[in-house]
Amino acid sequence: MTTPELVRFEEVTKTYRTARGRRLSALDRFSMTIPQGRTVGLLGPNGSGKTTALKALLGLVRPDSGTIHAFGHLLPHDQRHVAAHMGALIEGPAFTPSLTGRHNLRLTAQLLGAPTRAVDEALELVDLEAAADRRYAGYSLGMKQRLGVAAAFLGRPDLLVLDEPMNGLDPEAVRDMRLLFGRLREDFGMTMVVSSHILAEVEQVSDRVAIVRDGRCIADADLTDLLAAGGPRLVLRVDDPDNARAALLGHGHHTTARTGPRGTELRLDETAHGPDILKILTSQGIYPHEMTQESPDLEDVYVAAIRAATTADPQNGEQT
Ligand SMILES: Nc1ncnc2c1ncn2[C@@H]1O[C@H](COP(=O)(O)OP(=O)(O)OP(=O)(O)O)[C@@H](O)[C@H]1O
Ligand SMILES: [Mg+2]
Repeated sequence: MTTPELVRFEEVTKTYRTARGRRLSALDRFSMTIPQGRTVGLLGPNGSGKTTALKALLGLVRPDSGTIHAFGHLLPHDQRHVAAHMGALIEGPAFTPSLTGRHNLRLTAQLLGAPTRAVDEALELVDLEAAADRRYAGYSLGMKQRLGVAAAFLGRPDLLVLDEPMNGLDPEAVRDMRLLFGRLREDFGMTMVVSSHILAEVEQVSDRVAIVRDGRCIADADLTDLLAAGGPRLVLRVDDPDNARAALLGHGHHTTARTGPRGTELRLDETAHGPDILKILTSQGIYPHEMTQESPDLEDVYVAAIRAATTADPQNGEQT
């Protein structure tokens, strides 16, 4: 049985005009799906189009072409029919600093026509009951972001749209946010789309990933499928990583250098045959200390998707 889709973007294109009249392509035939019950991590570098895509879904920007199907409606034509299905936190929460967290949420509840009881439930959900009667101005960034999620959740939407909800949070606040997403998913069956430019965050909170680059969605799949599709990666430890990278690149093998607790390791970007790699290195007088095989992680998937997209469309250029 396939999971129903709540949202489907098809070939959505959006070009902004800057104040100087320059055209700036933010979305370029952007396609992705949001299946029910999933937490979709919308992953991409700064300026890749994540916020624009979410704004198009919410009706805050109007695409030039392409379609968005959401909750059985076609956007932007039927935008007013889908508003109640979505709760959003875009580009940080907007609350009144001088009012308490509870007061701010009550105002949001009034706007949505949600019962006062929903405010208490939302405060409990985001673990802000103890701080509910303090002024919003005195909240930490993590508390502000959690109150923003509470406001998005107040109307009990079918889909939560959260733009960079973990941006700028310290590791403990990121952990709180991760636990909150777990509760929303498990206790409320919530579907979520969560954007981020940080791989590790997306890997920790999502079970589905859409990778955006230059306004295009270059991968859109369940995380387990993405990871299973990539084969094992060879990982090398050598004395002179730069030299080894150059030697391998000379034979068409791309690598990524990662620095961890054990120093710098080189990871092959695609699956490769161990003996072939050793032959290349030793023929140039490079003798690895260690060569192991590891299962791919999201960074491997990300690198491979970007490489594949660059090969398919060389005018995009390559970033390393
Ligand atoms: N209102 C606007 N006017 C003109 N250009 C814009 C506007 N909003 C976004 N852009 C441009 O569109 C492109 C995509 O921007 P967008 O904000 O969607 O990216 P993003 O992936 O959310 O980036 P970030 O990670 O920095 O939030 C960028 O080149 C950006 O400069
Ligand atoms: Mg953004």
